[in-house]
Amino acid sequence: MKTLPDFDMVLFGGTGDLAMRKLLPALYQQVKAGTLSAGSRILAAARKQLSREAFLELAEATCRPFLGESYDPDTWRSFADRIHYFPMDVQSGASYGALGERLGQHPDRVRVFYYSTSPDFFAAISAHLGATGLITADSRVVVEKPLGHDLESSREINDAVGRHFAERQIFRIDHYLGKEPVQNLLALRFGNVLFEPLWRREWVQDVQITVAEQLGVEGRGDFYERTGALRDMLQNHLLQLLCIVAMEPPTSSDPDAVRDEKLKVLRSLKPFTPQDVVTKTVRGQYKAGAVGSRPVAGYAQEPGVAADSRTETFVAVKAEIDTWRWAGVPFFLRTGKRMSDKLAEIVINFRQVPHPIFGGADHTSRANRLIIRMQPDESMRLYLMAKQPGDAMTLHPVNLNLDFEESFRERRLEAYERLLLDAIRGKLTLFVRRDEQEAAWHWVEPILDSWAASEDRPKLYTAGSWGPAGSSALLSRDGLAWNEED
Ligand code: NDP
Ligand code: BG6
Repeated sequence: MKTLPDFDMVLFGGTGDLAMRKLLPALYQQVKAGTLSAGSRILAAARKQLSREAFLELAEATCRPFLGESYDPDTWRSFADRIHYFPMDVQSGASYGALGERLGQHPDRVRVFYYSTSPDFFAAISAHLGATGLITADSRVVVEKPLGHDLESSREINDAVGRHFAERQIFRIDHYLGKEPVQNLLALRFGNVLFEPLWRREWVQDVQITVAEQLGVEGRGDFYERTGALRDMLQNHLLQLLCIVAMEPPTSSDPDAVRDEKLKVLRSLKPFTPQDVVTKTVRGQYKAGAVGSRPVAGYAQEPGVAADSRTETFVAVKAEIDTWRWAGVPFFLRTGKRMSDKLAEIVINFRQVPHPIFGGADHTSRANRLIIRMQPDESMRLYLMAKQPGDAMTLHPVNLNLDFEESFRERRLEAYERLLLDAIRGKLTLFVRRDEQEAAWHWVEPILDSWAASEDRPKLYTAGSWGPAGSSALLSRDGLAWNEED
């Protein structure tokens, strides 16, 4: 990859979990790949009173486990040369002076302001950046999810950021859009003619999108109590994946051409009535159990979590898209913490053959399936029926690997690497536009409202399972089953 022109990135929340686990490691990898020029600067800002040396020590110790074998001291030193630290209270205008002086040394560079703090600060940071004249024409802002906790609060934050940045400067990140298999799904759908005719209700029986984690809330109990699985994962990551699967072919790869099509999908999602919320959604909360044979505590026993918490750590929904292409095809979405496996995948189940001609006792019939797996491994497999060698006409499912691991040997970029590079380059295609984000909130709000009004609590599921029993029932009512149960 070509080295990018010098830029400045201000990383608000530079000492936080996201910065240490994902953002700094992603930037390190790009130093290693030679993409980040020696003159580029990463200006980390946070509350802690640390010297530059102390911050660098903390960053190296904290990031190193996330770099694995790619860590080497020389590359780290070269990376560290680009990093500066600004202890500041982002809410106080007085703290922006030192940052401004440093940025002022290179007024013509691309400036990326990355808001890796609580969204409660996004308005104040934008206002202070605006008031101190730090937002240039070549500036962009990257905002983390979830943006707000409902439609109204997300509008307030968008308004506050939008007073200082134009929409073309706002990069709403959803790191699932940066994952390699998601890119590959776009390539498969819109770089080939084979799939498009099949990609519709006539041939697709159902779609399943699963993001299951073995992790719990990992010390983020406070945050999670206010958020829950629906806001943390489904409103953003899972709905974005649904859009990539369901959208019409865009006229080009221009950001707005792609985002217009995703928006149409979000606006075509069938709205939930209170009765639908009862029959088409399932919420759960994990109780003590074992994940990968390790005993783990229940959610209600996690630090920062109320003993009588009603927060869901699992959600499954049956979504329907009211369009000619997708009418009648259920899209099942589920996500949860402390599940049996770490698994993120999209399963497209095609219909059965209209008339089976291979009968007999040893016949195994299985409809075609396309599985796009994002975790734990990245792959794209198409399952077909083929004849088993031998005398008898016995069919067996086989899979074609569409990921061409053998053909492409390059290192795959982590989602945050790709998205950070796109933000620096100003490429908006993989970022969420305001209207998309609001359409997603609009669709999930009746679920949030019905849950809040209901006396029911999330159903408990044992840590290390696939979620509450209602999750399987959601599909079995349509005569279907989750991929791992089938
Ligand atoms: P953390 O709580 O770990 O980090 C918060 C950061 O904000 C710290 O660097 C903290 O600095 C800084 N901060 C807090 N108050 C101030 C202040 N008044 N002035 C200056 N800095 C301040 O949060 P995360 O890193 O987990 O999350 C950051 C954002 O990213 C959130 O919006 C979250 O929703 C989002 N996100 C996080 C993910 C994750 O995996 N962690 C995943 C996806 C999104 P200090 O340490 O000095 O107090
Ligand atoms: C984040 C959520 O957006 O995504 C976390 O806030 C979750 O709760 C994480 O753990 C999962 O991302 P990934 O890429 O590890 O599947």
